[in-house]
Amino acid sequence: TQDPLVIFTPSGKRGRFPKGTPILTAARQLGVDLDSVCGGRGICSKCQVQPQFGEFPKHGVTVTPDALSEWNKVEQRYKDKRGMKEGRRLGCQATVQGDVVIDVPPESQVHRQVVRKEATARAITMDPATHLYFVEVAEPDMHEPTGDLERLAVALRDQWGIEKVTANLSILSRLQPVLRKGKWQVTVALNKDHRDDAARIVEIWPGLTEDRIYGLAIDLGSTTIAAHLTDLRNGEVKVSSGVMNPQIRFGEDLMSRVSYAMMNPGGAAEMTNAVRNAINGLTEAIATEAGIRPFQILEAVFVCNPVMHHLLLGLDPVELGQAPFALATSESVTLDARDLDLTVMNENARVYVLPCIAGHVGADAAAVALAEEPNKSDDLVLIVDVGTNAEIQLGRKGRVLACSSPTGPAFEGAQISSGQRAAPGAIERIEIDPVTKEPRFRVIGCDLWSDEEGFAQAVAATGITGICGSGIIEAVAEMRMAGILDESGLIGSAEQVGTPRCIPEGRTHSYLIHDASATGGPRIAVTQGDIRAIQLAKSALYAGARLLMDEMGVDRVDRVVLAGAFGAHISTRHAMVLGMIPDCPLDKVTSAGNAAGTGARIALCNIGARAEIERVVREITKVETAIEPRFQEHFVAANAIPHKTDPFPELAK
Ligand code: FES
Repeated sequence: TQDPLVIFTPSGKRGRFPKGTPILTAARQLGVDLDSVCGGRGICSKCQVQPQFGEFPKHGVTVTPDALSEWNKVEQRYKDKRGMKEGRRLGCQATVQGDVVIDVPPESQVHRQVVRKEATARAITMDPATHLYFVEVAEPDMHEPTGDLERLAVALRDQWGIEKVTANLSILSRLQPVLRKGKWQVTVALNKDHRDDAARIVEIWPGLTEDRIYGLAIDLGSTTIAAHLTDLRNGEVKVSSGVMNPQIRFGEDLMSRVSYAMMNPGGAAEMTNAVRNAINGLTEAIATEAGIRPFQILEAVFVCNPVMHHLLLGLDPVELGQAPFALATSESVTLDARDLDLTVMNENARVYVLPCIAGHVGADAAAVALAEEPNKSDDLVLIVDVGTNAEIQLGRKGRVLACSSPTGPAFEGAQISSGQRAAPGAIERIEIDPVTKEPRFRVIGCDLWSDEEGFAQAVAATGITGICGSGIIEAVAEMRMAGILDESGLIGSAEQVGTPRCIPEGRTHSYLIHDASATGGPRIAVTQGDIRAIQLAKSALYAGARLLMDEMGVDRVDRVVLAGAFGAHISTRHAMVLGMIPDCPLDKVTSAGNAAGTGARIALCNIGARAEIERVVREITKVETAIEPRFQEHFVAANAIPHKTDPFPELAK
């Protein structure tokens, strides 16, 4: 007679095993993804499975209730202590007795897929660098003297197949008491490095720990620092939070921070301290909000632009301020959190910083490439990450180009007369009637348009305070469509345009959107200066994209992805009316949300993604806008709205 057949779902893997084989053993032999921290000792409960009984014509088996060994004491003990879903068994306790179909629920899969919330979901496969392992370590023996660490290493090798481990002094100093407290059973957190065959012990607990372990995916921007506290077992984001980058007091934009470093001895170190302190504060706040202890944070992954990259690492950014924009290193960096004075998280936590693409195109752009995968795209995709510096990538399978373009902060509402950050009270949407030239608008934090009933009461709490980045883009595009603005970007006079909202201001005109000055409130207008600032920003963005298209030898792209938190709020039609992005079918312009942050999460949750992005970055061709004469030509031509020469046939549709 044949051995019983064991079929696993959803993988469909199957094999025959002698009676008495534990389900966990069968899973391991077939390469089925079934979790286990305790290695089958019946104490971690990670190996839960759901046996299926009945007729399975698809698999050609009938499964009877006696296909598995009886419910045992270990399972009962576990169920009494923590509870277990109906019908579940522990894979390490239940043994094969007959043909059986075993379902592995998602929470018992080690490499489970975590699906992103964003629309263009790229599933993240869980395979983090840091994992927990429970081991039983041999007790010391006077006749065969070896150290406790060496016996722990042997146990990890024999019980988990881990060939080489290292421990620093801080772990070594706690090892002996922990081993004895756990009665020679311990849980260790091991951190693997994809470029090093030794795994580091980063934390150790007596017995089987109840603690969860976490990592931080950090998007270190010039304006804000955003961090996602991620459960390293299942990829779930527990808390996301952000703080302002305190370096703003040394300069609003990156170049002014580089000049601060150039002009002031010790200036770079000052900025390094400021940002590290802010990260420590943010770590503390996030841990408190999540109700965890900061030592449970065992890893951090950083994505940032080149200047922030250098300032985080404590490297002087002066070389990034002048051609040829040499980075101290373009490779990824792995180091101890303590080397960066990141002392709030676990003292042995490891830090991974993604590689930079070039002196102007940083690890944040690398993270966008990891999340959006232009290198795997069948059609030609243009990805724009809009911030104070736009980072632009153009590519498809086989070839990806990247550049950065100095858009300045106008798209974020800075340098705009009534500009403000996107916050309650800011005008974020605007429409201008092409006949009456009257505006209607919406403000953040209110669901009504300004001409709808109840609007005044609805905004009473926040007031109408200014206009944010997406609002100013819509305003300029609407002004152009309503004929208030000509192709060169000039606001016409009241007589030319036929609306009293065009008011003279010196030798130019402004368009008045909202005026509460009579009651001491703000007067929100789009001035000629605002139009110029937007024109400069959009020309820089367009010229960067156009330069990459020249380099690729194309005059059209198949689709456009707007990345960055700001990209999520831009109206794609208005962006195209303005000529921010090249002509493309409007339904092919999508927003990827915070793609850099997503890339950081992917690198945190999957060690293989780190090797992947390091390879992809090496293959990306960098195009330097600052020294390319054609950039200037494109820039000048792109100053017109939407453009002096390039056609926009999609807008006519
Ligand atoms: Fe730990 Fe089964 S493997 S309880």
